[in-house]
Amino acid sequence: MEYDYLIVGSGLFGSVFAHEMNKIGKKCLIIEKRSTIGGNIYTQNIENINVHKYGAHIFHTNDEEVWTYINQFTKFNRFTNSPVVNYKGKLYNLPFNMNTFYQIWGVKTPAEAKEIIEKEKSEYKIETPKNLEEQAISLVGTTIYEILIKGYTEKQWEKPCDKLPSFIIKRLPVRFTFDNNYFNDLYQGIPIGGYTQIIEKLLEGIDVKLNTDYFNNKEKWDKISDKILFTGMIDQYYDYCYGELEYRGLNFETEVLDTDNYQGNAVFNYTEAEIPYTRIIEHKHFENAQSDKTVITHEYPKTWTKNEEAYYPINDERNSALYEKYNKLAKKESKILFGGRLGMYKYMNMDEVIKEALNLVKSEK
Ligand code: FDA
Repeated sequence: MEYDYLIVGSGLFGSVFAHEMNKIGKKCLIIEKRSTIGGNIYTQNIENINVHKYGAHIFHTNDEEVWTYINQFTKFNRFTNSPVVNYKGKLYNLPFNMNTFYQIWGVKTPAEAKEIIEKEKSEYKIETPKNLEEQAISLVGTTIYEILIKGYTEKQWEKPCDKLPSFIIKRLPVRFTFDNNYFNDLYQGIPIGGYTQIIEKLLEGIDVKLNTDYFNNKEKWDKISDKILFTGMIDQYYDYCYGELEYRGLNFETEVLDTDNYQGNAVFNYTEAEIPYTRIIEHKHFENAQSDKTVITHEYPKTWTKNEEAYYPINDERNSALYEKYNKLAKKESKILFGGRLGMYKYMNMDEVIKEALNLVKSEK
C-alpha cells in the first residue's frame, strides 16, 4: 500500500492524528473536501486581522497534557473571554456575576443578589422541571431567564423554551463575585497568529490533497492505505442506512468595516428574540490586531439541511439512539477508525478533540 493511513478531513482531529503518526514513521495522506486546511478552526487573515471563519474559537482547558501539547505549535496570548449581552439596547456582563446583578437590580453585595434570586426561584415552585423554561427558572430565577436566556435559546433552537427539553441546560453557573471571565479553566487564550498556522505546523511533511471529497472516489481511496481515519459524518459513511443524524446549522455574515473599533469587545450576544442573529463577533479583539479597519461577523442560527455545513449535533433521544446504531457498525470495522466531532457525533471543544486524537494515537501504537 502507498500509505499507512488515509485521513479523511484536515480538521484538528485529523491533523493531530496525522502529525503523531508521521512522527513514528507512518506514512499519511490527508484528503480534505474544502479548499482550506483546519476544518472549523481555520482562520483567514483579512486586513491584518485573523478572522475565525467558522465561528469564534477561544482555546481553554484544564488539561495540563493538552495545554503542553498545543503550546509546541504556537504561543497563546492572554485573551479572556468576557462576552457582553445587548438586550433591548441595555448592556449586561456574562457569565451571570455580580456585575450583571448590579446592572439588572442595582444590588451591590452578594447577599442582596442571592436574596433576589432565591426569592424568584421559590416563587416559581418547580419541583421537577418539565421543560427548558422551568429548568432555567429553577436554576436562576425569572429575571435572568427573561433577559439573558429566553430569547437567545429560542433563536438557537428555533423553538419556544417551554417546548424544549430540560436536559439542554444542566447547569447555569452563577457567580457571586465581580468576575467577567466566562471560563473557569486554568488555561485560556488565542493562538498568536491564528489557528491555521497550528494546522500548518501539524501537517509539515505530510501529503495533503485539498478539494478532494472521499465520497467522490471512495473506491480509489479505500485502496490507497492500510487503514483509514474518517473524520467526516458517520451516517454518510454508512450511506445513511439507518437514517440521518440531525444538526443545527449556522450562517455567518462577515463584513469589513471602515472603522478601527466597532463594538469594543470580541463577543456581543444579542439575547432578545426580535433580533435574528445571536452574536456579533469583532475578530480584531481576539488578538488586539493593529488595523485601521475592522472585521465583524453576524452569527445566525438556522435549520440544517443535508449538504450544508453541520455545526452542532442534536443529542436528543432519537439522534443518540441512531448514533449508537452507527457506532455498533463502526466498532466491527478493522480497517477504518472514526474520530472528531462528525465521526463521533459529539460536540467537543478543541481541548477534548486533541485529547481524543491523542488517545486514538495511543491505541494505534
Ligand atoms: P472539523 O469539522 O473541524 O474537521 C473535519 C474536516 O473533515 C473538515 O475540514 C471537513 O471539511 C472534512 N471532511 C468532512 N467530510 C469529508 C469528506 N467526505 N471528504 C473529505 N473531507 C471531509 N471549541 C473550543 O474549544 N472553543 C471555542 O470557542 C469553540 N467555538 C466553536 C464555535 C462554533 C460555532 C463551533 C461549531 C464549534 C466551536 N468549537 C470551539 C469546537 C471546535 O470547532 C471543534 O472542537 C473542532 O473544530 C473539531 O475538529 P474536528 O477535526 O473534529 O472537526
